[in-house]
Amino acid sequence: MNAHDGSKAPDGDRTASLLIANKQVKMPVRSGSIGPDVIDVGRLYRESGCFTYDPGFTSTANCSSKITYIDGEEGILLYRGYPIEQLAKTSNFVEVCYLLLHGELPSAAQLKEFDNHITRHTMVHEQMTRFYTGFRRDAHPMAIMCGVVGALSAFYHDSTDIHDPQHRIIASHRMIAKMPTIAAMAYKYSIGQPFIYPRNDLDFAANFLQMCFAVPCEPYQVDPVVARALDRIMILHADHEQNASTSTVRLAGSSGANPFACIAAGIACLWGPAHGGANEAALKMLEEIGHVKNIPEFIKRVKDKSEGVRLMGFGHRVYKNYDPRAKVMQETCHEVLAKLGIRDDLLDVAMELERIALHDDYFIEKKLYPNVDFYSGIVLRAIGFPVSMFTPLFAVSRTVGWIAQWKEMIEDPEQKIGRPRQLYVGPTQRDYVSVDKR
Ligand code: CMC
Repeated sequence: MNAHDGSKAPDGDRTASLLIANKQVKMPVRSGSIGPDVIDVGRLYRESGCFTYDPGFTSTANCSSKITYIDGEEGILLYRGYPIEQLAKTSNFVEVCYLLLHGELPSAAQLKEFDNHITRHTMVHEQMTRFYTGFRRDAHPMAIMCGVVGALSAFYHDSTDIHDPQHRIIASHRMIAKMPTIAAMAYKYSIGQPFIYPRNDLDFAANFLQMCFAVPCEPYQVDPVVARALDRIMILHADHEQNASTSTVRLAGSSGANPFACIAAGIACLWGPAHGGANEAALKMLEEIGHVKNIPEFIKRVKDKSEGVRLMGFGHRVYKNYDPRAKVMQETCHEVLAKLGIRDDLLDVAMELERIALHDDYFIEKKLYPNVDFYSGIVLRAIGFPVSMFTPLFAVSRTVGWIAQWKEMIEDPEQKIGRPRQLYVGPTQRDYVSVDKR
């Protein structure tokens, strides 16, 4: 195959050709604003009778998008063109939500209006509290969230018409605003405390903290350092282009399913330990290692591979240099621990593990670097969240990314139902044999 390079040439002028059984198939090469070109294989089957085969989509672009750009080799992450480091340090989560959803940073008036929409959509239908009581107290909050978020479509009929732009935007506001309330209620239920209603005088992160940690019998003071750290964590997790949960949301949405159902599907996917469950797994791993002296033995087990042990919080499908979110997270981790006066032995284990891994040939050769989840568990633990709330917090943060990507897909004229094909390796056609003859 020969993809003719020339990134400045117009799309129509460039083709890739594939020789299959002496038949040459030409396919258009398309360029984005930055990043690798794509070979448009949309007509390949019609012209050659072959499918492409790419389990895990390691070389496959599933859509075109204007939302998030990642350069894994250079360790770059941009939301609508803005570097993640700048946004994490100088913006705030609600402003980032506006940016991801609408494509541009808001004016002061736009931000005020948007903030007002989000603030005033935070309550959930009172009847929804009854769903919670149907769950066991020891249910994982992610299990509760899958159910409750899916149920939103049974309550908010005035925002489920995906073809109505006004419905789409109201559904987006509702999802971003209600997700912290739903997650906090799942937490409160699990510890047997009363649900705490949202407070409109608090900003997004501070409100989430009070819904999780306040009790009705005494005033709750939000620590501004903790609120700022949480806001930053949410910015870092807000979107990450076509990751597994976002692709799940897009695939679910491609059939025309309503946005609440699609986000529920995204939550289910996020729960897995290779994706959103990684910070929970990373913290458990640090606890299991327990002490710096046990690190060499643990590294040996990882490299041995026979036990299937992985260094959780390390490695990424896209980042093969470093994860820019991990750097901000490491700084935030030190900041929070210092401000709260917490001395956490696990931080020592994490830093030593990182130091050793970054100098070890096994990890260097495989380009394995700390990802965002390596330090986030330590920060969240310091703030007071139990491990089971780590992934729900990721879901709260990622909701804006999911909904922005879903909205972009619905508004994309090229959008069609997602329907991959397969390489069939099962039995060829055979005749049914009745049970008495088997
Ligand atoms: N520890 C040890 N070895 C690893 C690790 C790890 N964390 N990650 C990858 N490898 C090895 C793997 O064994 C394989 O080795 P070989 O080539 O000898 O077979 C090689 O590196 C490539 O691994 P892969 O699984 O093919 O790579 P991938 O791109 O499919 O996996 C990943 C990416 C994130 C699933 C994987 O690195 C991993 O399991 N990491 C730990 C879980 C984790 O921290 N996930 C959070 C990702 S960031 C948050 C998010 O975006 O959701």
